Amino acid sequence: GDAFDEDCDYLFKAVLIGDSGVGKSNLLSRFAKDEFRLDSKPTIGVEFAYRNIKVADKIIKAQIWDTAGQERFRAITSSYYRGALGALLVYDITRRETYESVRKWLQELREFGSEHMVVVLVGNKCDLGQSREVEKEEGKGFAENERLFFMETSALQNVNVEEAFMQMITKIH
Ligand code: GTP
Ligand code: MG
Repeated sequence: GDAFDEDCDYLFKAVLIGDSGVGKSNLLSRFAKDEFRLDSKPTIGVEFAYRNIKVADKIIKAQIWDTAGQERFRAITSSYYRGALGALLVYDITRRETYESVRKWLQELREFGSEHMVVVLVGNKCDLGQSREVEKEEGKGFAENERLFFMETSALQNVNVEEAFMQMITKIH
């Protein structure tokens, strides 16, 4: 195999999707490197990060793909989803329009993603509770109806970031 899969038992591909500015890249950098940037730039094209995780005596290399929420900066959709076993579908709890977009992202996911993908709906920026526009119960209820997992997170304060990724990764295998 290539340099990336030599020391692991499994290689899992997962993708991040959701509108621009919801915090996809910061969730990933928090998970992969424990880093956060207040001044991060919109993603252009595709970026990757890896993290090795031990689950039940097996080393899983999680390969997480991150692309632009903005249409004009996005990578080719079919190749982005190809082979992905999991997805974090992210909205921003302080911008209702990003929650309204979740249906659109789900449609794309169901069109291009595999049928058995593990999907976690993530309401990010829960540190900004005073500006909240989407109630937690609303996101949770939607997720239940659509058979998705659900988590509210803060990449800034490192709340539930590990849990959201781990829920996806451990449910995959
Ligand atoms: P695109 O690459 O354009 O699709 O955006 P993105 O979803 O990758 O968003 P990004 O991670 O670049 O974050 C956008 C802005 O939100 C940045 O200013 C981040 O610092 C901020 N941000 C991300 N996560 C959080 C969070 O949990 N809390 C707060 N308060 N701000 C956050
Ligand atoms: Mg980004």
